[in-house]
Amino acid sequence: MSEQGIESPVLKAIFERRSIRHFEDATVDRDLILQALKAASWAPSGLNNQPWRFALIRDPEVKEKLGALTRYSTILKSAPVLVPVFLDNEASYDRTKDCQAVGSCLQTLLLALHSLGLGAVWIGEILKNKEKVLEILKLPERLELMAVVAVGHPAHKNQTSHRKPIEELIIFDK
Ligand SMILES: Cc1cc2nc3c(=O)[nH]c(=O)nc-3n(C[C@H](O)[C@H](O)[C@H](O)COP(=O)(O)O)c2cc1C
Repeated sequence: MSEQGIESPVLKAIFERRSIRHFEDATVDRDLILQALKAASWAPSGLNNQPWRFALIRDPEVKEKLGALTRYSTILKSAPVLVPVFLDNEASYDRTKDCQAVGSCLQTLLLALHSLGLGAVWIGEILKNKEKVLEILKLPERLELMAVVAVGHPAHKNQTSHRKPIEELIIFDK
């Protein structure tokens, strides 16, 4: 199957989306972020428990503080909006399945942002300081940081990436 000339808008977005780490200075319309978060909230979850929670950060001082918690500080400080995504452990019923659900939510968020013309990157490296993120945002301990998504208008397009051939990934087929 070729990725060229794909008719399905979902497949097109999946193949086109790239991790964007450079942003224009322009602010991001709050309604666009809310639309993307609404789409993300339609991700599947076990028992439909929807264990994801989102924070929205535009305040430069807060971005600076979060930036100090990761080697990707430049990305966090330059992105107009940061969206930390949490697992609410009080909504959790099965840790593995709930982490999978939040992962699904994160990918849906990235795809929705891409389809709205925005760029984003999933920052996981900051998880080494997940407790400090809670302290800075003054959020309760039941929330467990799963990722910070940095969002903005992409400063460039047509970035390349690569994936292993599908034949290497299918390990049983009969
Ligand atoms: C769990 C996870 C953690 C990630 N953490 C980071 C990160 O800390 N910093 C970063 O720049 N990119 C991070 N990424 C983005 C990956 O580097 C990126 O998805 C991968 O290189 C493939 O590139 P593409 O998304 O442009 O196709 C993360 C992605 C995932 C799924």
